[in-house]
Amino acid sequence: MIPNPFRSHLCDQLRKEHIGQTVTLSGWVNSARDHGGVIFIDLRDREGLTQVVFRPEENAEIAAKSHELRDEDVLQVTGVVSARLAGTENSKLATGDIEIVATEFKVLNKADVLPFQLDRELSNEDLRMKYRYLDLRRDRMTRNIRTRHRITNAARNYLDGQGFIEVETPILSNPTPEGARDFLVPARLSPSKFFALPQAPQQYKQLLMVAGLERYFQIARCFRDEDLRADRQPEFTQIDIEASFITQNDIIGMVEGLLASMFKAAKGIDVPLPFPRMTYQDALDKYGSDKPDTRYGLEITDMKDVFENSGFKIFKSTIDGGGVVRAINAKGFAGITTGQMIRLNELAIEAGMKVKQLAFIKVERNAEGVLEYKSPLWKFFGEDEQQALIAKLGIEENDIVFFYAGTWDDACNILGRVRIEIANMQKLVEGSTALNFLWVVDFPLLAYSPEDQAWVAVHHPFTRPKTEDIPLMEAGEYGKVRAEAYDVVLNGYELGGGSIRIHEGDLQSKMFTVLGVTEEEKAHKFGHILDAFRFGAPPHGGLALGLDRIAMLACGEDSIREVIAFPKNNKACDLMTDSPTSVDFKQLRELYIQSTFKPKPKEGEEAK
Ligand code: AMO
Repeated sequence: MIPNPFRSHLCDQLRKEHIGQTVTLSGWVNSARDHGGVIFIDLRDREGLTQVVFRPEENAEIAAKSHELRDEDVLQVTGVVSARLAGTENSKLATGDIEIVATEFKVLNKADVLPFQLDRELSNEDLRMKYRYLDLRRDRMTRNIRTRHRITNAARNYLDGQGFIEVETPILSNPTPEGARDFLVPARLSPSKFFALPQAPQQYKQLLMVAGLERYFQIARCFRDEDLRADRQPEFTQIDIEASFITQNDIIGMVEGLLASMFKAAKGIDVPLPFPRMTYQDALDKYGSDKPDTRYGLEITDMKDVFENSGFKIFKSTIDGGGVVRAINAKGFAGITTGQMIRLNELAIEAGMKVKQLAFIKVERNAEGVLEYKSPLWKFFGEDEQQALIAKLGIEENDIVFFYAGTWDDACNILGRVRIEIANMQKLVEGSTALNFLWVVDFPLLAYSPEDQAWVAVHHPFTRPKTEDIPLMEAGEYGKVRAEAYDVVLNGYELGGGSIRIHEGDLQSKMFTVLGVTEEEKAHKFGHILDAFRFGAPPHGGLALGLDRIAMLACGEDSIREVIAFPKNNKACDLMTDSPTSVDFKQLRELYIQSTFKPKPKEGEEAK
């Protein structure tokens, strides 16, 4: 090996057996301490820390010079590995038995005082983002970035081992419908035309199947202009997969192996396989969500059999009108505070509740030792009904039961949100290390959007209807058609989704028609894929995993920003490079673009 002039070792390598050797290390001054004229430095590189000591009795000149060293200076040190004084060893540090007695050092670069200290948690996220390169020097962040690397590497190795070929697909491309807004790029050489950045490489990977590649993958950057959340960024990374001559079961088995290899690489654990499977209908019925967190119970219970003949009119008439009455028993939560109750009602209203308060029954023992069912509703229920309710929900002292009566959709949305919030309030997953993977299968193919007054694809328009449901599609019973689609979920997060695809031109064309795509639009927007399907497209299917979400969960973080080197903030801006930014008029003119944006006048200013 060619000797490296900067270092003979890394900062985590030296041990007792190196005592007496002369070594050279390079890195950053993690901290400098002056103990009565003797300077101690923790030198840090990517791998760890080593203590360096500058002793006046060993080398007066360099000891004197070492007083100038400041945190984060970049330093090269040569010295002799020595045992630490008995009693001063640091068992928490890999190199804690030794120190380097410096004989020589060189400041490779001085550092200004940092805008924040690296050894303390910083709540000011804007400051972290502005100086992200400093934020990334922190132990936690370096660990996250390295874990992400191990995960990506494991995915590549696993997929390569399964015969998948990595192919890059264009970033400047055509819009592909994945449900978000596109980021557009003006095309200078085709005036007034635009590329769209890919929301996913969906159509390209299908075209690679038509090309006969059979097994493709890509660590693919995707772009979606949508509202941001802790698990959503405008640009993010998918592990994108597609294969030909494959069934849903094959894909599920292969992806389970892939995820297990990624979690093994990240955390050294063996994820139990296979993952449980749940139908979309069950997920919504029991958990009010198509990405259920099964680390806690709080399941939603249908109360039709208890209330279909109820004396309580609202419940009975809801059921008679085709709606549902559903309940959650929050065990041991009768002590809910007024503030928590207000919060739950606010959430329920945000989720679509039309009334001001969730109906509830709170079960507490009064001063006389008698169990009381405190509720505005209890008195409306007959005795049989009360007993049936208690038995069905297993109601006991200190429980509180919440009800919702309305449409199935609203009940799922509202109770799904309430369920998650109760779990947060009861701290049901605090400290949990459980990894509850599961598959959600049998998604509906289409959903009616009252907003657009049209049918929209639940996954995307290339998803295949279940063969046995194709007659329903032909009969126009769109809401009943199930898709050959599947999502993989971990602890309430959607990690990935995919489907078996339509590979026949006529079925794909029919699907577009159902989605309201005109013949002209079909030719214009999807002509390439419809054309390709005329030339021997094999049956195929695939899936894409959200790499950022996987890394977030493997690292125990609660935002994907913590596992992306340079993420955007919640306004989709990069505070470090100050992007997006305004551009020169000249640049816009070259693109034939004119801005019609008029900033709102500030108070007291006249509109321009
Ligand atoms: P889908 O749209 O479900 O499927 O995306 C797949 C996975 O990508 C992740 N993801 C995101 N991660 C961070 N920020 C975002 N804004 C974001 N959006 C999505 C999620 C999600 O499960 N082409 C299809 C896949 C296929 O059918 O093969 C697709 O993109 O983890």
